[in-house]
Amino acid sequence: MAAAITVVGFSAAAQEANLVKLSPARSDVQISRHIYGHFAEHLGRCIYDGFYVGEGNAEIPHTDGVRNDVVEALKQLSIPNLRWPGGCFADTYHWKDGIGPKDQRPTIVNTWWGGVTEDNSFGTHDFLNMCELLGTEPYLAGNVASGEVQELADWVQYVNHAGRSPMADLRQKNGREEPWKVKYWGVGNEAWGCGGNMTPEYYADVYRRYATFMSDWNNSGGVFRIASGANSSDYHWTETLMKNIPHLLLEGVALHHYAVIDWSNKGPSTTYSDKQYFQTMKSAWKMEELVTRHTAIMDKYDPEKNVALVVDEWGGWYDVEPGTNPGFLYQQNTMRDAMIAGVTLNIFNNHAERVRMANLAQTINVLQAVILTDGDKMVLTPTFHVMEMYKVHQDAALIPVSVQSANLTMDGEELPAVSASASADSLGNTHVSLVNIHPTDKQEIRVDLGKAYRSVEGRLLTAGDLRAYNSFDAPETVVPTGYQGARLRENQLTVSLPPFSVVVLKLR
Ligand code: AHR
Repeated sequence: MAAAITVVGFSAAAQEANLVKLSPARSDVQISRHIYGHFAEHLGRCIYDGFYVGEGNAEIPHTDGVRNDVVEALKQLSIPNLRWPGGCFADTYHWKDGIGPKDQRPTIVNTWWGGVTEDNSFGTHDFLNMCELLGTEPYLAGNVASGEVQELADWVQYVNHAGRSPMADLRQKNGREEPWKVKYWGVGNEAWGCGGNMTPEYYADVYRRYATFMSDWNNSGGVFRIASGANSSDYHWTETLMKNIPHLLLEGVALHHYAVIDWSNKGPSTTYSDKQYFQTMKSAWKMEELVTRHTAIMDKYDPEKNVALVVDEWGGWYDVEPGTNPGFLYQQNTMRDAMIAGVTLNIFNNHAERVRMANLAQTINVLQAVILTDGDKMVLTPTFHVMEMYKVHQDAALIPVSVQSANLTMDGEELPAVSASASADSLGNTHVSLVNIHPTDKQEIRVDLGKAYRSVEGRLLTAGDLRAYNSFDAPETVVPTGYQGARLRENQLTVSLPPFSVVVLKLR
């Protein structure tokens, strides 16, 4: 590569370094739509004020207490699944507290998140009916650490049993005739931390007990049980679960990784320095190594790839907005978050053979949210727009890509500036998503398409400033626009990617 050019602290190698090559589509590997999943915890203003404003709310339009504006926005993303009720909250949650007449439900204290009193007004029926409204599949996280095997088995029966049974009868008494048929179940959350501070060996045994009573001999109900997974690069955790849990009890293994700079000094969400931007990108790119190495371990014990890797918490994590409750994890969302989303979703797409589900943390008002609310106002974040642009990949056939990229360099450390993934949809279109994380340099990219196409069109997300965000006063500062920077000549494409941008191309 040519000598690096230094520009305001960052440097880029020669532009001709950028080459993206597409291989033929893999008809045997689908990019599961479930990679584009979301996460809603009883944390801060995600559920209360975010999704749910109460049946009696006269100011904000709602359906059974769920905000109509939020439902309409999330429908634009075609969200495939929604994880609930936690997170750490899940291992404190007793689902029977959240059913029956609302004025008779017990309260609990949300010990992990701000010590607030939870009135349980948003419970199982509210969540599962909301999923129906959203057209999304629920993903329920069971309480393992402070719950009981019977409690989780009862929850499965309550929501899934079709005939007569003690729990199905109770469900019907509470107003729901037909079961919801929930497929996705988390067996605890972060068992290595807030979910019980267990060792992987101990958790694997605990998991076996819980998983056994969630189903029958043949798992005839088809529940998809997801083991609480590793914290980032804890490879021993994944190895132990894959080795110690019989695979007939295991449909998925989770993994959590946040793009965080330093847990004790996370930095601001909008006024980050160039160095903090680089460090965040480094942590986001770390997902490539994590997914590759956890996959390699899973391949050793499950070469047929029957067990999915489920990255059910990912996203950027910064200091909370000044003046807000530190336990509520409320942060703004800038073009930096758009970069995290673009790079991470490309990584998941490219590893679609093993990564078959993922959940951005979290949907509304918490961490890397796609929606922020303030009273009756709602704003869509840059991350929302990346998710919307990338939805073309949902359930499309994977097109493997190889990427040769210029580097983004800082203080002797290097990151690829360009990230890419591609897919072929059922209508015969090819979609290519490209990200340039470089904050100052555009990237000229040659894309070798492998076959001739007749037309290309595209959409672009960028802004006048790397730190730009959508506020309640200026909600359209960062929105996608049409993109004219691609030139097609049969099987060759040249693309000019502006600094800190996401482009999604459609080829026919
Ligand atoms: O998403 C916020 C928290 O991060 C979740 O509750 C927990 O699982 C993780 O540590």
